[in-house]
Amino acid sequence: MTELSELESQLIAAVDAAGDEAALDDVRVSALGKKGTISERMKTLGKMDPEERKAAGQALNALKDKVADAIAIRSTSLKNAALEARLANEFDDVTLPVRPELKGSVHPVSQVWEEVVQIFGDMGFAVAEGPHIETDWYNFGALNIPEDHPARQEHDTFYFNPKEDGSRMVLRTHTSPVQIRTMEKSTPPIRIIAPGRTYRCDSDQTHTPMFHQVEGLVLDETTHLGHLKWCLEEFCKAFFEVDQVKMRFRASHFPFTEPSMEVDINYSVENGQVKIGTGNKWMEILGSGMVHPKVIAAGGLDPDKVQGFAFGMGIDRIAMLKYGIPDLRAFFEADLRWLRHYGFSALNVPTLPGGLS
Ligand code: DAH
Repeated sequence: MTELSELESQLIAAVDAAGDEAALDDVRVSALGKKGTISERMKTLGKMDPEERKAAGQALNALKDKVADAIAIRSTSLKNAALEARLANEFDDVTLPVRPELKGSVHPVSQVWEEVVQIFGDMGFAVAEGPHIETDWYNFGALNIPEDHPARQEHDTFYFNPKEDGSRMVLRTHTSPVQIRTMEKSTPPIRIIAPGRTYRCDSDQTHTPMFHQVEGLVLDETTHLGHLKWCLEEFCKAFFEVDQVKMRFRASHFPFTEPSMEVDINYSVENGQVKIGTGNKWMEILGSGMVHPKVIAAGGLDPDKVQGFAFGMGIDRIAMLKYGIPDLRAFFEADLRWLRHYGFSALNVPTLPGGLS
């Protein structure tokens, strides 16, 4: 039988020579596996007398530890080398110019969403969020739309299957529930917009089952209708990038506002193109009003102390208007040709000083 020291140098040499994890594992099995050289020698211990066994056993255990350590060290260095090789391979030079064939574009909804955030952000509004799957309370009840209210039918709600207690979750039909969620977790003054996805069971040229709205909410002790008008007028001028826009505030009805108003802006059609801010045609762009005292109370605030306005606007709708896009359904068809035509450069981020579009 080979001397232990000789076996040790053989095994260590084999460990060092292993070029990858599989080869290293072969060495491990050949030395420490059930039928490995070290294990075989362990089996001979039984036949030795006690003194001899003690010395030989210690020596063998020491050898076993040495080989196991050498394998662990080799394994780590093999893993590191493999990682180094992978990193070297996957290296991307971010200083290289964009390759035109890989250039993506920003969807008009994302673009307009960002434009809206920029404009209201500049006026001091924060961005709020809420869940897409809502309870009946947040989507309707807290907004002063009780069980039998006709507004429920108008919303074409997607309902989930009833839970054990009979209640049903809904896909939110508007961004207005974010008003309640915001009131619950803040103390006035509140100044937020809530852009987000909304859902209704509806589909034609101007309706899709999923669409986008932006909600606005301002609550403090003094905010009044005059502030609402100013705010929306400034928004429209900035968004449509025009110096003047006429606005018409038409009395309307929403359960969550009192008084309620629908807002129209003036436009004309020149050579088949819609021009906002010129001419004497009117187009509705949003709903708004003073937040109903019941809604303020449902949000956990005191309607005798707190007042303010809210509005809700269709993001897809103002995107169609601003960028002359005729059919809403195309927004969500992921047609590359459409995206190339109506999309925006990813490097051209909308900002007020730098220009929105
Ligand atoms: N939630 C309304 C809808 O989806 C839009 C709306 C109207 C929101 C008036 C408001 C508002 O905050 O004040 O039809």
